Amino acid sequence: MQTQFDANKAEAFGERLLTALNDGALCLMTSIGHRTGLFDTMAEMPAASPAEIAQAANLRERYVREWLGAMTVARVVEHDPQTRSYRLPPEHAACLTRAAAPNNLAAFGQYIPLLGTVEDDIVACFRDGGGVPYERFTRFHEVMAEDSGQSVLPALRDHILPLAPGLIERLERGIAVLDVGCGRGKALNLMAGWFPNSRFVGYDLSEEAMAYARREAAERGLGNVTFAARDLSDFDRTAEPGRFDLVTTFDAIHDQARPLAVVTGIRRSLATDGVYLAQDINGSTHVHGNLDHPMGTLLYTVSCMHCMTVSLAQGGDGLGAMWGREQALDLFQRAGFGTVEVHELPHDIQNCYYVCRP
Ligand SMILES: C[S@@+](CC[C@H](N)C(=O)[O-])C[C@H]1O[C@@H](n2cnc3c(N)ncnc32)[C@H](O)[C@@H]1O
Repeated sequence: MQTQFDANKAEAFGERLLTALNDGALCLMTSIGHRTGLFDTMAEMPAASPAEIAQAANLRERYVREWLGAMTVARVVEHDPQTRSYRLPPEHAACLTRAAAPNNLAAFGQYIPLLGTVEDDIVACFRDGGGVPYERFTRFHEVMAEDSGQSVLPALRDHILPLAPGLIERLERGIAVLDVGCGRGKALNLMAGWFPNSRFVGYDLSEEAMAYARREAAERGLGNVTFAARDLSDFDRTAEPGRFDLVTTFDAIHDQARPLAVVTGIRRSLATDGVYLAQDINGSTHVHGNLDHPMGTLLYTVSCMHCMTVSLAQGGDGLGAMWGREQALDLFQRAGFGTVEVHELPHDIQNCYYVCRP
């Protein structure tokens, strides 16, 4: 172990932290740019003054000007001091606008301020233990649905469902499908529209998310999908044996109170020729295995300030988002699955996909 103080190392680390401070601030401004529609507006405009941009986005000029200042020094927006104009180059718009989905990284920027809203509660948990319940995260389901709306929905038919060969044909003929921890039900409503001969059920703890999902299903005139608010912590005992041919979970196991009970229930609820398709965070169970993870710091932070804590708030296991493949494979095996395949998909650097069969 080196004991001498390395001044160069200290200086480099100070610079790294300064960059982190600026980038943290950039995330807040990126979230605002997304929520106010400023990126979408600027992407459609030539170079313009703050007043013109504010008018086009229907926002207050003074705020827009300050935001443009942050965006300019962060090199997101280009500024011409001669004409006092600002421009969002198309190369940057390509990962900042709603039109750029699934490459819209600005949508993910929302997680940083969202986590900030519970910082006081998290600090208290560091001292006293326990967790922060879902209800404290006022915008969670909205942001999560936007996240999976980008990372799951566009890839569902052509990339995710084909991971289980023959599944699309079975869905077309008509099967029973359950989505566990379905959130606002976006994936289920989409599949219900594609496959009218199949029947779809969604379970989630959140009454609010279920109400949203039902509203959307009604708006789309879907008669083959139902949603029920349900705490699945006892799903190992309450699942109806053999009721479903396909069960899916999208990012919904690691923050459960009782992940083993949920997956055991999923196993029980599957028909003998059924399939369980699980999307969950791709990572190693071991910290040293995540040193080069492209989203490692973000995912451990989201885990600590959301996924782990919401589980602990339910008196749960607090597995956390970075539970990793090793623990996932062990869990699926302990739940009674006979075969488990792991896949990665090129569109999704955050998750891996497990295809589990009884
Ligand atoms: C990370 S979100 C994923 C939501 C959705 N699958 C998506 O991809 O948008 C996890 C979901 O699990 C649900 N959940 C957490 N604990 C639960 C429990 N004990 N029983 C049922 N659902 C639970 C949450 O309400 C949340 O909607």
